[in-house]
Amino acid sequence: MNSKFKVSRFVPALSLLLVVFIAGCERPPMDSVQQGFRGTGMVAVSNPRLAAELMAGVSVPDPIPAVPPSGTTASEVYENVQVLGALDVSEFNRFMTAITQWVSPDEGCNYCHAATGFASDDLYTKVVARRMIEMTRQINSDWTDHVGTTGVTCYTCHEGNNAPLNVWVQNPGPRRAGGFTADSAGQNTVAPEAALSSLPYDPFSPFLLGDTEIRVLASQPLPQGAPVPAIKQTEETYALMMHMSDSLGVNCTFCHNSRAFSNWQESSPARVTAWHGIRMARELNTSYVAPLSTTLPAARLGPMGDAPKVNCATCHQGLNKPLMGANMLQYHPALVGGD
Ligand code: HEC
Ligand code: HEC
Ligand code: HEC
Ligand code: HEC
Repeated sequence: MNSKFKVSRFVPALSLLLVVFIAGCERPPMDSVQQGFRGTGMVAVSNPRLAAELMAGVSVPDPIPAVPPSGTTASEVYENVQVLGALDVSEFNRFMTAITQWVSPDEGCNYCHAATGFASDDLYTKVVARRMIEMTRQINSDWTDHVGTTGVTCYTCHEGNNAPLNVWVQNPGPRRAGGFTADSAGQNTVAPEAALSSLPYDPFSPFLLGDTEIRVLASQPLPQGAPVPAIKQTEETYALMMHMSDSLGVNCTFCHNSRAFSNWQESSPARVTAWHGIRMARELNTSYVAPLSTTLPAARLGPMGDAPKVNCATCHQGLNKPLMGANMLQYHPALVGGD
């Protein structure tokens, strides 16, 4: 019997096993970039073919050709331009064409302009759009610590949709039986907001609307004066971190050195950009988007009556740089600074 044992008989089975074993692996060559400071061992490994796929999935509209200035400002010609008055009329009209392409390509100008005339503010969409222009300008002028010179346009969030695809509203939480299970404190629910973990399903209200402290790691072994955050609060921090990683399509090590999450010296520069991003999202929500709850129609509001708000995914949509870093702002002076 033993003489009949041939390794060759097992070759098909072994090769099958090998195929199964390496099926989850990615074919070399891979790229690696040192993204932390020297000596921290923070090297990001990425697959250039996956990056090419991501790139192919991003569509950025061609810029509308530049127009020669007319020499007249919009406020000299039009009746009701409260924000864009200083813009040259030609540029103003070019900009109207651009926002139509970015926000309402199917509905056209009528999405914001009523039959009663272009100057009328009858449609809520126009009132919201005016506020959005102010918001976008503020992002591009006051938040360069986050958006750099790349900046954002309406397209970054809207991508040709009336309302951005990734927004959040306050969440009443899952329905549960009564008794002590009724209040789950946000736990034990598969939360898409926290990358399908069972961490709290609303990390946004405390951190991207309110300014609850995100840092939870104690700097001293025992409570010495300063109160140590409760474990429940650490869960909210981790839920936010899951959302941030998920929105950018990255791992925790894109920003942190996992041997010391709290340590800034060992974190990558991207963490500082993210720190500003958290403050920016918070300001966009408190100053611009949340107050729209009285302007938007009821059908647009969440179950708790609040307006849909911004989080990291609103701009990033799964990419570490929105639209893979495409700079559309350079073609639209209307969206830089005030007038
Ligand atoms: C997404 C909303 C939106 C779309 C789409 C849009 N507009 Fe506007 N439009 C506005 C806003 C907001 C203002 C007011 C700007 C301000 O207050 O500075 C405005 C103002 C105007 C005015 C000035 C009217 C006046 O007398 O005060 C004209 C003209 C105009 N738009 C033309 C157009 C045309 C033409 C199109 C289609 C190519 C268009 N708009 C598409 C939002 C929009
Ligand atoms: C930072 C992300 C962001 C940017 C940039 C942005 N928007 Fe918005 N926009 C939002 C959010 C969030 C809402 C509320 C979404 C909802 O109602 O679901 C919204 C809603 C709107 C609406 C109401 C649409 C509707 O059907 O109810 C209009 C119109 C609009 N934006 C126009 C613009 C214009 C024009 C620009 C550029 C000047 C712009 N937005 C830039 C995030 C953004
Ligand atoms: C895009 C960058 C980024 C990613 C990705 C990221 N973090 Fe963070 N993390 C931050 C920033 C910024 C802070 C500090 C926030 C602040 O102070 O407002 C922070 C804070 C923390 C803290 C609190 C540190 C302290 O001092 O108490 C923990 C813990 C943490 N992150 C864990 C994680 C984990 C786990 C992941 C992956 C699931 C992750 N982070 C992904 C940027 C990031
Ligand atoms: C208004 C749109 C917008 C929002 C909201 C936003 N970002 Fe960004 N973010 C950008 C833009 C634009 C860039 C690219 C800047 C550049 O090219 O220099 C960027 C860059 C970054 C980078 C640097 C990426 C790299 O490869 O170096 C990090 C990290 C980041 N964002 C994290 C976040 C986090 C975390 C949030 C949510 C708290 C967030 N962003 C919310 C627009 C946004």
